Amino acid sequence: MENKEFSDIQQEIARLSEEINRHNYYYYMLDDPKISDYDFDQLLQRLIDLERQHPEYVRPDSPTQRVGGTITKQFESATHLYPMLSLGNTYSEGDLTEFDTRVRDLLNGPVEYVCELKYDGVAISLIYEHGILTRAVTRGDGARGDVVTANVKTIGSVPLSLTGDFPDILEARGEIIMPFDSFNALNADREEIGEPPFANPRNAASGSLKLQSSAEVAKRGLAFKLYYALGENLPEHNHYDQLRKLHQWGFRFPDVMEKVPGLQGVFDFIHKWDVERKQLPYPIDGIVIKVNDFAQQQQVGATAKSPRWAIAYKFKAERVSTPLLSVDYQVGRTGIITPVANLRPVSLAGTVVKRATLNNRDFIADMDIREGDCLFVEKGGEIIPKIVGVDVEKRLPDAEPVRFVETCPVCGTPLRQNEGEAGVFCPNELHCAPQIKGRLEHFISRKAMNIDSLGEGKIDLLFAQGLVRNAADLYDLTYEKLFGLEKVVEDENGKSRALSFKEKMTQNILNGIEQSKSVPFERVLYALGIRFVGEVTAKKLARHFATVDCLANASKEDLMEVEDVGDRVADSIIQYFNDTENLEMVMRLRAAGLRFEMGEEAKPASDKLAGMSIVVSGVFTIPRDEVKALIEQHGGKNVSSISKNTTYVLAGEKMGPEKRKKAENLGVPIISEEDFRQMIGL
Ligand code: IVH
Repeated sequence: MENKEFSDIQQEIARLSEEINRHNYYYYMLDDPKISDYDFDQLLQRLIDLERQHPEYVRPDSPTQRVGGTITKQFESATHLYPMLSLGNTYSEGDLTEFDTRVRDLLNGPVEYVCELKYDGVAISLIYEHGILTRAVTRGDGARGDVVTANVKTIGSVPLSLTGDFPDILEARGEIIMPFDSFNALNADREEIGEPPFANPRNAASGSLKLQSSAEVAKRGLAFKLYYALGENLPEHNHYDQLRKLHQWGFRFPDVMEKVPGLQGVFDFIHKWDVERKQLPYPIDGIVIKVNDFAQQQQVGATAKSPRWAIAYKFKAERVSTPLLSVDYQVGRTGIITPVANLRPVSLAGTVVKRATLNNRDFIADMDIREGDCLFVEKGGEIIPKIVGVDVEKRLPDAEPVRFVETCPVCGTPLRQNEGEAGVFCPNELHCAPQIKGRLEHFISRKAMNIDSLGEGKIDLLFAQGLVRNAADLYDLTYEKLFGLEKVVEDENGKSRALSFKEKMTQNILNGIEQSKSVPFERVLYALGIRFVGEVTAKKLARHFATVDCLANASKEDLMEVEDVGDRVADSIIQYFNDTENLEMVMRLRAAGLRFEMGEEAKPASDKLAGMSIVVSGVFTIPRDEVKALIEQHGGKNVSSISKNTTYVLAGEKMGPEKRKKAENLGVPIISEEDFRQMIGL
């Protein structure tokens, strides 16, 4: 009877997986979705629920792997089946002519090339065994790389399994990239929590691949671009047809790829894409030219480092030199001072450049930038102009080095720099205007308290009127205080208009503030703007500690029990709650009615684990955070290290051998996820 039920469930899991995979294929590979996002999410949720109840049926290619959940503390390394070579680079058409001559000499005859985009991301090798993705490895040093399989499985354009007449073993290679949209959204989020933004999409893609939590990777919006395949006895005889074949097996065919009959075709392709790349939604830094025919590729051969049958042509960044007029110093939300160069306006790659960031004090010193220097400005694939050097020949004699300000340009406080950090900052966190306004803007922002009836301009006005100095002041605002306030603001086009609080606007603001009182604790915690506590960390802290009192009284050790909370985050939380002004503000916010405790979801579900101290180790079928939350909901306590007082060690997959030894030595029983589920009746 039971068996029958199980096999029904197994069938249902298989059916749902098949249906979801099909829709993933329409969406990612063909750009042609057949159902709404909502309907898709419903299907996926049903599968997630079923797999949670029956983890024994989770398949390595289940579409739920896209959602992530695996935590990898350290990436193992693996040797590549075939070394991952790099390509010879060139910036000149002359070099391409030489490349073509060399190739044709070696072949003694004509040659067909394939031109592709050179994606600007991170190289990845995907291994499919019997049609199932079993391993994803980064390039590393070309011979060995890091195994990042769980993270890569979250990327929608990576097929988890293949269809059709695929070979037993297939290695697909390509680039993991971050499209500009995802990149901009990620950096906006990072700036909101005071984390330094990524310099370019490539760094962001590479940082994302190395995240410990695959659920986080799933949110980063990465994509896979196929460019190469390897394996024994693959059916096709040239590169172009091979990628077509891989498309039949389930990969996305490159958006742009052309067969050309000779060098002139290569030049035409380059000229076209040097212009059209500006419209592409993801970054490329050049063009790759490959000999199409495999037999010809073999004939041309390879050196130890790179094939001779392919070459990369990199786009030149456009560069000009222009005099530095002056330097402005901007104070950011977290107090970091950013020097900005005012330049004599100059035309560069289609726009007029007047200002460019000088990043930080070390940047100015390392480049030895002096007053009145002519600076080289470049605009490559990126949108933002970059200062790349000094035109020393044009330097005036006796030019003085640019002296970085020593006091805050807004509040006059002497600036500081932390050891090992490049940024100079204003330490007057609580009383420096841009920092106060920045914190208020963060507090009302969408992912925090979501008070959208207040915006930057209105916060400025309230601040200028002395009505708000911190978030708690917002809850003391009244109709009388707001009504009739006025100021002149500039819109995006530089036009002046009056901002005045009339009846309706005033009421909207007050309503928005009132509604924010029902925002859940985790978002209130995020809204406080504690340094390094982003949206995700706030959620984890809220679930772990359940109330702000528990959090404020937590020791560093307690804090570090929370996943993803390390030294730096723990210190920052402790520092925040040690400050009397912060504590007073939290008290006022609580008195105003904001939520500083978890709601129903955190109330104990049972007392089945009451009095037990449990150490959780390894990887589970659900995120480790959720395992820990379950322990607490059933009255147990999470502890981080094994001692004789530990009741159980709850071991997932890949539990460290040292932990196991320690548990065995101390006689602490080790239980599995399955045992644990039975204990709590799940
Ligand atoms: S083919 C043996 N094609 O550029 C040939 N590479 O130094 C292997 N890349 O490490 C490379 N777009 O990460 C190839 N369309 C493309 C590419 C591409 C980007 C990267 C790749 C490689 C580097 C070359």
